[in-house]
This record gives sequence, structure tokens and C-alpha cells, in this order.
Amino acid sequence: MQEMAHEFFRLPVEEKMKLYSDDPSKTLRLSTSFNVNKEKVHNWRDYLRLHCYPLEKYVQEWPSTPSSFKEVVSNYCKEVRKLGLRLEETISESLGLEKNYIKNVLGEQGQHMAINYYPPCPEPELTYGLPGHTDPNALTILLQDLQVEGLQVLKDGKWMAIKPHPNAFVINIGDQLQALSNGRYKSVWHRAIVNTDRARLSVASFLCPYDHALISPPKPLTEGGSGAVYKNFTYAEYYKKFWSRDLDQHCLELFKN
Ligand code: OGA
Ligand code: NI
Repeated sequence: MQEMAHEFFRLPVEEKMKLYSDDPSKTLRLSTSFNVNKEKVHNWRDYLRLHCYPLEKYVQEWPSTPSSFKEVVSNYCKEVRKLGLRLEETISESLGLEKNYIKNVLGEQGQHMAINYYPPCPEPELTYGLPGHTDPNALTILLQDLQVEGLQVLKDGKWMAIKPHPNAFVINIGDQLQALSNGRYKSVWHRAIVNTDRARLSVASFLCPYDHALISPPKPLTEGGSGAVYKNFTYAEYYKKFWSRDLDQHCLELFKN
């Protein structure tokens, strides 16, 4: 997967630009920064965004160069999905819920991928690769560049570097699991910084509730406390709101009770 990511971003600009779009509703696009039309400050990132589930529906629109891209990335997507679903089972159980609870609520989950490419940046103190944000989906499985650091997470008010670990993924809880668990699980604030001399790559796989999934905490998690922290919403409503704003405002806050 990492090789495919490198090879794709090594293609000539003219070749890559055929895929360029800043329209978030496109199911395949090469883009830059985060939300170029909405943000005030741009980020030092290019990214290829792919829809990955159901694979048969999307794979034909994926890049045909590098020539093994479709095959390698398809296999990667299938394995990552299995891992994500297993994690959702264990998270359900950890909340005292039935193993399939979260998977049932989220329904036939979508899967998106962002292949992030952060070129060397002459003035890294003036921007980010990605500014601090939480992921709007349920669960993110991140494959980090093993050679170049850049990911940081916010812990106890401080940004901490997450060193790449061989043969390991970084798992981010997203906004939907925070809402669904009534705040028991926290959607992690994270960001990517850039550096002057080395390009960095990362591959984020996002598991997303199906559009009409109703995100509402189960009864056992709202009883005995102060009730539901967030209003009930569908994932489609949430996602629309997410792309209509800049990253610096926490989208989940807009759904608080
Ligand atoms: C993302 C993300 C972090 C990274 O794509 O949402 O947070 O290390 N990426 O590239
Ligand atoms: Ni993220």
C-alpha cells in the first residue's frame, strides 16, 4: 500500500491533475489542503480520496497507473475493513453492549480512503499538513510513514508526537463513536505537521456509518447521568455540516443538547 501511495504521487503533475477536484461530493478525486473553498489558511498537503465500499462499485474509477494500484489497494481495503469491524465489536463489548451493537447501528458502512502526501515545506512553522481536527466518521485506521514523523495528538491539553511503529496502525476514534457512546469514547484531536526536507505519506481508512444511520446513544449509556449529551442525528446530516465549515470548529459541538 505504501509503495502504491509513493508511486502514485511520483506520477507527473499533468497525469495526476486529470483527477483533480475540490468538490467533496466526488467519489474519486485528487485535491489539496482540506477544504480549499471554505478555509482561510491552506495546508501543505495533497491527497487522493477514494471510495472503497462496495469495492465493485468504485474500483473501476480508481487510477489505472501505477498498473497494480487497483489490485494492491483493493486487497488492502478488504483487510482494513475486517480489522475495523473487529474493533467495533470489541468497542461494543467494552461498553457493556452486545458484540454487534455498533455494527448494527452503523449499518452497511461506507469506507473511504485518503492517501495523504505532505511535500517538504520551506516554511513549516507557517502552516500544517492538516490542522488540529477530529475525524467525522466512526473509526479511522491510519497507516503512517515509517520514515518520517508528523502525526500529533492532543492529550491533556498538550500536542504529543505519535512515533511511527513498524507493523502497527494508529486507530482514531471518530465523532460518531463519541456520540454513540454518549461521550465514553473520545474522538481524538490530531494534526499533521510538515518539515523542510522530507516528504511524508500517510494512508487513512475511514469507516463511515451508512447515510441514514441514526446516531443515538443506547439507553444503558444515558441512564443515571445527565442524559444524552448530543441530539439524535443521521450521518448524512452530520457529514453535510462537516464539509460546510472549516476544520477549526468542532462539528460535534454543533449537535450538543
Ligand atoms: C486524516 C489524518 C493524519 C496523518 O487524514 O484525517 O488525520 O498523519 N491524517 O496524515
Ligand atoms: Ni484525521
